[in-house]
Amino acid sequence: MSNKKIWFITGASRGMGADFAKAALAAGHAVVASGRDSDQVSKALGQSNDLLAVKLDVTSRADAEAAVRGAVNRFGRIDVLVNNAASFYAGYFEELTPEQVDRQLATSLIGPMNVTRAVLPVMRKQRSGHIISISSSAGLAAGFEFVSAYAASKFGLEGWMESMHAEVAPFGITTTIVNPGFFRTELLTEQSTNYAEPVIKDYDERRAKQLEFWKAQNGKQSGDPAKLARALIIIASQEPPPRRFVAGADGIATAEQKIADLKAQIDPNRDLSTSLAFDGESATRAL
Ligand SMILES: NC(=O)c1ccc[n+]([C@@H]2O[C@H](COP(=O)([O-])OP(=O)(O)OC[C@H]3O[C@@H](n4cnc5c(N)ncnc54)[C@H](OP(=O)(O)O)[C@@H]3O)[C@@H](O)[C@H]2O)c1
Repeated sequence: MSNKKIWFITGASRGMGADFAKAALAAGHAVVASGRDSDQVSKALGQSNDLLAVKLDVTSRADAEAAVRGAVNRFGRIDVLVNNAASFYAGYFEELTPEQVDRQLATSLIGPMNVTRAVLPVMRKQRSGHIISISSSAGLAAGFEFVSAYAASKFGLEGWMESMHAEVAPFGITTTIVNPGFFRTELLTEQSTNYAEPVIKDYDERRAKQLEFWKAQNGKQSGDPAKLARALIIIASQEPPPRRFVAGADGIATAEQKIADLKAQIDPNRDLSTSLAFDGESATRAL
């Protein structure tokens, strides 16, 4: 096919990442599918001339550089990067250890930065490329208890992506943030979700309810990751691709609530907010 692209996907051993890789291959693209264990990636995706399975723990800059070198050696370029890999450290902020918070940020915020840092020189040289980062409803609208560390990583991911968009657009590189609602992957299994240890009695009652909620969601999420994967192929072919794609009716409801909440937070103090410049000065251009 003439519009064949080279996709580079992180966390392709299971979950959404494996579905993204399958959908890209099915659409006739070539795929560099990466994972902490490249054998697991091969097991999940099988063999194809259009597929390269590479080892990449996104917390390792050396892994990222080696994986990108491998991709360019095999396919000569990288057109679409999908920052998909992430973990989930669930719990009240006070009960999460500093090490758990570090690990959450290392995988879900610094990880995408490590991989993108390695890919950008390739895309800059090509003067083209598309960086897709999988955020979450939790990256758009916080305010849900028990997900403070995860939300921090996804809010960070979004701020970085939105700002980087302006930095790389002049090189013909586009960016897309994806905000999935609940999708039936392995994210809520013990392999991907780590819970904080219960240490503070004040949280006992609410923690029990939260644990019950999150464990009950596993396997019951309404979103079909194979459909999301096909949607990703569609948005990646749009010219230009969207800056943001909200995935799932639950994701849309969260996004619309966020818009309403922001407006409700701005309006009561609008006059006070806009009265803070030195007398006679007009406001500085907003960042
Ligand atoms: N499922 C949902 O409802 C949902 C909702 C909103 C957002 N998301 C986001 O969607 C993305 C995919 O999640 P998922 O639902 O597919 O979860 P998943 O089924 O748990 O898959 C997570 C993937 O990330 C990989 N991974 C974890 N740590 C890694 C690391 N340090 N380096 C490289 N790979 C690593 C895992 O590889 P291993 O096999 O090596 O562990 C696995 O392939 C994530 O960014 C997640 O935050 C998911």
